[in-house]
Amino acid sequence: MANLDLPVIPQHVAIIMDGNGRWAKQRGLPRTIGHNKGVEAVREAVKAAGETGVKFLTLFAFSSENWSRPESEIEDLLGLLRRFIRRDLADLHRENIRIRIIGEREKLRSDILPLLLEAEETTRGNTAMTLVIAFNYGARDEITRAVGRLARDVQAGLLKPEDINSDAIGSRLDTAGIPDPDLIIRTSGEERLSNFLLWQAAYSELVFLPCYWPDFDRQQFEEALRIYAARDRRFGGLSSATTAVVG
Ligand code: FPP
Repeated sequence: MANLDLPVIPQHVAIIMDGNGRWAKQRGLPRTIGHNKGVEAVREAVKAAGETGVKFLTLFAFSSENWSRPESEIEDLLGLLRRFIRRDLADLHRENIRIRIIGEREKLRSDILPLLLEAEETTRGNTAMTLVIAFNYGARDEITRAVGRLARDVQAGLLKPEDINSDAIGSRLDTAGIPDPDLIIRTSGEERLSNFLLWQAAYSELVFLPCYWPDFDRQQFEEALRIYAARDRRFGGLSSATTAVVG
């Protein structure tokens, strides 16, 4: 375990891995090389999270909007994810890491869905850390599907409209059972959430790092944890410094 000496470590870190294309462009390389390097950064992130004591790591691997990219790039990204699961699943399992997949899976292709299900099934009992892979994920789509489930449950008489509260919604999201992210990191200098965990991000600390995703490493991860540790989380209340003075 790394000795970071921070007063607080986030329980759940979520990452928008952005900038693979720009990293490649900067070097005159095809975008696919950027995505390849991005997978190495994924491995670094998983290792760093485990070693710093983070219990949940969520990675935005493929958004429901990414299908609008050129066919060849979609194939590259799907191929990388398939290879990542085939090659790294045994290692992740050995490291006692549980894998959860969030996102719409109904209409997923037969060359990817069984792999995702196998990854979840194989690692179901693991307890060291949970790696949540957001694939074919969009927060509005996730919330829309949850609202549909709520409506069906009300219609079936399983739930009264007056019993609808944030827990009733949260338990029908893909992230049911996963605590909200304490820290959301986005690389590449862009400062937006891009339809990522919109419900769950209500009180998340957001940290935007200038580096492109392929350059993300242990040092960058620790930098984000340091920024997080220096923040004063208030959840709509008063700051701990204020309450300490006021009593
Ligand atoms: C953003 O870069 C990155 C993605 C759309 C995909 C991230 C995917 C990986 C790192 C590989 C597969 C994932 C796993 C979990 C193994 P961009 O292409 O949007 O970059 P740009 O904004 O510079 O064009």
